[in-house]
Amino acid sequence: MSAKVIALLNSHIEGDNEQFLSLALQLAAQEAREGRIEQAEKVKALVQKARDRQRQPKSSSAQGPIPLARPRADLEGIVASSYPRTGLCGMVLSDDVASRLASVVRQQNQRTALRDNGQIPATHLLLVGPPGTGKTMTAEALAGELHLPLFRVRLESVFSRFFGETSAKLGLLFEQIAQMRGVYLLDEFDALGARRSESNDVGEIRRVLNAILGFMELPNSTDSLVIAATNCAEMLDEALARRFDEVIEYTLPNKNAAKAIVAARLGKFQIPKRALTKLASDMDGLSPAELGRAVDSVTKDAILDNRSQIEPQALAKALQARHAFRNKFRRQNGR
Ligand SMILES: Nc1ncnc2c1ncn2[C@@H]1O[C@H](COP(=O)(O)OP(=O)(O)O)[C@@H](O)[C@H]1O
Ligand SMILES: [Mg+2]
Repeated sequence: MSAKVIALLNSHIEGDNEQFLSLALQLAAQEAREGRIEQAEKVKALVQKARDRQRQPKSSSAQGPIPLARPRADLEGIVASSYPRTGLCGMVLSDDVASRLASVVRQQNQRTALRDNGQIPATHLLLVGPPGTGKTMTAEALAGELHLPLFRVRLESVFSRFFGETSAKLGLLFEQIAQMRGVYLLDEFDALGARRSESNDVGEIRRVLNAILGFMELPNSTDSLVIAATNCAEMLDEALARRFDEVIEYTLPNKNAAKAIVAARLGKFQIPKRALTKLASDMDGLSPAELGRAVDSVTKDAILDNRSQIEPQALAKALQARHAFRNKFRRQNGR
């Protein structure tokens, strides 16, 4: 290999584009001198192409990085902001949930048409269902569909970090909702219920619930989506539940949904359809999150063993292991 090729590689690694192109031209000249005219022409054409690209102004239609919406400094530590790019199509949902979410997206996308006719789009959603069924993922997918930033607040962490000031912190969040359009996820709403049993928290919880209730009465002029997610519907105050435009219930997947989740997760490691059907009883009762973990553990083994296929038997074992894990956890918690 000639020293020029090494120098060429080096300039690329160093990010010295001018040097890179100039070395490429030198290589072309060398090729030409040695009679390889065609090769020389190809390299020159490539260099020309690279130069043309450099000169071209960035096309305005090209989508640059979307600036990450930053929460105000005083919200730091309670709100995590992100710009999800996934949509609802990456989720396996029951027909009912899928059509309800599609309708929310439609109303949000055409909110001007609604407002022009005296209607307002659905903005407040309550997602209820067991852990790992896609509540948090739904908030991400909705933000992705609507090209809005997602602001996620985990109530449990606000409670534990800012005990006594939780409602004040939430007040700041609500102020932001009034100013900046986005998807706001009040995640792990169950934190309120779990703490209710600890008697010294009762006052605090009442204050927090009142703050949330009060906020939900405020006009939401940005039409921001406000989503609350909880594992446990019982803890919800009736007064609170009434303020939501939609209460959407998530359930564990049925046989077909479980198969679809597993198949999607297997990606290029598909197993025959019949083998997948035979695993139905091992999938039964597992949440989408647990199914995903089981699949991931066998695909990781396949990747690291340099295998292009996975054995249905290995998947069966991984699914059974998830069941065992869940049962053990349940027993420990006295459930
Ligand atoms: N309905 C679903 N379709 C596809 N994957 C799902 C679904 N629900 C959950 N998952 C998988 O499980 C993971 C955890 O789900 P998550 O949204 O955090 O559940 P929850 O918030 O209801 O506890 C997701 O990141 C995704 O990989
Ligand atoms: Mg969640």
